[in-house]
Amino acid sequence: MKINRVKLVYFSPTGSTKRIIEEVAKGVGAPVEHIDLTRPEAKTRDFKDFSDELTIIGTPVYAGLIPLEASKRLRRLKAHDTPAVTIVVYGNRAYEDALIELTDLVSEVGFKPIAGGAFVAEHSFSTPEVLIAEGRPDSSDLKKASEFGARIREKLQAAPSIGDVSPVVVPGVRPYRDEFRKSRAPKPGHEPAAPTTREELCTKCGLCIEVCPNEAITIGPTVETQRYACMRCYACIKNCPTDARVMTHPFFAREAMWLHDAFPDRKEPETYL
Ligand SMILES: Cc1cc2nc3c(=O)[nH]c(=O)nc-3n(C[C@H](O)[C@H](O)[C@H](O)COP(=O)(O)O)c2cc1C
Repeated sequence: MKINRVKLVYFSPTGSTKRIIEEVAKGVGAPVEHIDLTRPEAKTRDFKDFSDELTIIGTPVYAGLIPLEASKRLRRLKAHDTPAVTIVVYGNRAYEDALIELTDLVSEVGFKPIAGGAFVAEHSFSTPEVLIAEGRPDSSDLKKASEFGARIREKLQAAPSIGDVSPVVVPGVRPYRDEFRKSRAPKPGHEPAAPTTREELCTKCGLCIEVCPNEAITIGPTVETQRYACMRCYACIKNCPTDARVMTHPFFAREAMWLHDAFPDRKEPETYL
């Protein structure tokens, strides 16, 4: 199969999933088209059906699974035996059943998954005080990502047609384990946490509104965040140019410390072809 073009489909609030799949695409070595599902427009935008162009699909791991909002947006795509690579990116704790969940989902909407991978990036909860998977993806991760891309190209080029390409088998358990997600969900009767704004540092530049995947933020006399719309993805915190956005809820400080202490060993990218 000849690869004329690569489509990159991603949900990536803090940008590391996008960075890793771009590197995989570099290894494939064909012109790239981006389909960004992170912005709120992806909830309603119409997407052209996918046909035979190689599509690399990436999401982060949230509580061992793919983010619910990413899965809703991916379900709006339609493909026709389109070769797909599924990639999940996690913060060095675990990716549990995220890769099998993403791979199953893209099959359901018509893709044929032919490769998959799990890569590591600095955890969204990482702060200068409590670093988690600091500096990932680093040069070694990115080299592995582009080498993976080159192997995907070889796999496709060796097959006369999509029917001749073997489907990928990725690790994971069905039904997907959701104990970790349940343990991290807001407890009944408790309002969900959301970042707040240190008004004295805020210049009301509006970047937090622009990067929020779920339209949870509005700016009036003060910056307001709708707790039930907030995904706690940290996009507003990581992108705030004056460090005005902060997560002050004690759960997140405790969680960051736990992640830092309990997972000190470096996890390496895993790839499946
Ligand atoms: C709400 C939330 C839940 C997360 N859950 C996990 C997890 O279960 N395991 C893990 O290793 N990393 C976890 N992470 C870290 C992200 O997977 C990681 O930071 C990823 O690189 C973010 O991708 P992005 O930069 O494309 O947004 C979580 C991050 C967030 C915001």
